[in-house]
Amino acid sequence: MPKKTVLISGGAGFLGSHLCDWLIGHGFKVIAADNLITGSLRNVAHLKKNKDFKFMKQDVSKPFKVAGSVDYVMHFASPASPVDYMEHPIATMLVGSYGTHHLLEIARAKKAVFLMASTSEIYGDPLVHPQKESYWGNVNSIGPRSIYDEAKRYSEAAAFAYRRVYNMDTKVVRIFNTYGPRMQIKDGRVVPNFIDQILNNQPLTVYGNGQQTRSFCYVDDLVNGITKLLLSKISGPVNIGNPREFTILEFAELIRKKYNPKAKIVFKPLPQDDPKQRKPDITLARKELNWEPTVPLEDGIARTMDWFAKNYFQK
Ligand SMILES: NC(=O)c1ccc[n+]([C@@H]2O[C@H](COP(=O)([O-])OP(=O)(O)OC[C@H]3O[C@@H](n4cnc5c(N)ncnc54)[C@H](O)[C@@H]3O)[C@@H](O)[C@H]2O)c1
Repeated sequence: MPKKTVLISGGAGFLGSHLCDWLIGHGFKVIAADNLITGSLRNVAHLKKNKDFKFMKQDVSKPFKVAGSVDYVMHFASPASPVDYMEHPIATMLVGSYGTHHLLEIARAKKAVFLMASTSEIYGDPLVHPQKESYWGNVNSIGPRSIYDEAKRYSEAAAFAYRRVYNMDTKVVRIFNTYGPRMQIKDGRVVPNFIDQILNNQPLTVYGNGQQTRSFCYVDDLVNGITKLLLSKISGPVNIGNPREFTILEFAELIRKKYNPKAKIVFKPLPQDDPKQRKPDITLARKELNWEPTVPLEDGIARTMDWFAKNYFQK
């Protein structure tokens, strides 16, 4: 049987490149389209010589064509960390609107399944805890994070509109905080921040009083969940994330104890609209995809720390 082809936008990013690895490893052909605004060719350098892998330097916010058949379209292009999307506010809105539209049109023309990377950010600063897919969210539509949150909400709406109007198979995954090798060390998210500070023997920075909560999913678990959704019959939205919840202060203490008991913890003001709590309800993923995370935070952090220690000076 001929191999199925996956077009993935954002394929040179953190999550996109891990998805490329999984897809190539499971017998798919992959076309990765990326303009490298926040990603890097280093993330896919090991796939360069693979005959089933093709890289296209492409801004997906502009219309583009892909030759040949495409069976799946995965839309993962978007600046994703607050530091990145605040540095590229307009590009973030464009890739989450025009970009989504262009990828939906390619999926429609090729009769492909479409899957988009949505986010827990669509729940905003949630008033319901943990967050179930049925919760509509609490987003400040004009706040500093709205460029990202609202673009993702628009993308979800577009995926469902195409489903209704063209009867397409469109899928939405709502990704909660994910970490692992190939994150950018300076992307401002808490895991690379703490790792950077540990590797540089600096104090750990906690924003606010550290009582805000987050849950962290190791990238391999996330990739398993997303690919199960891709190959399933369900459309979602489906939360994929790790429900083990920590306050940021507990997380800082855990890192400090294991890696540098002498490190100080310093407190800085909380950024505007920083969510107070985040924890996915993964009942739907458990039931419909038979998925749940398996990598304990301590193991995932150890693997990520090793990777950063080896690759740090190349960044
Ligand atoms: N990492 C997480 O915890 C997380 C959580 C929720 C959602 N997501 C979503 O997952 C996707 C990937 O996130 P990531 O953490 O890998 O971020 P990333 O920044 O590492 O990857 C994003 C990739 O998209 C590319 N890109 C951005 N705009 C583009 C454009 N206009 N045209 C082509 N390529 C473009 C970037 O160059 C980069 O390679 C994003 O859509 C993000 O919103 C990630």
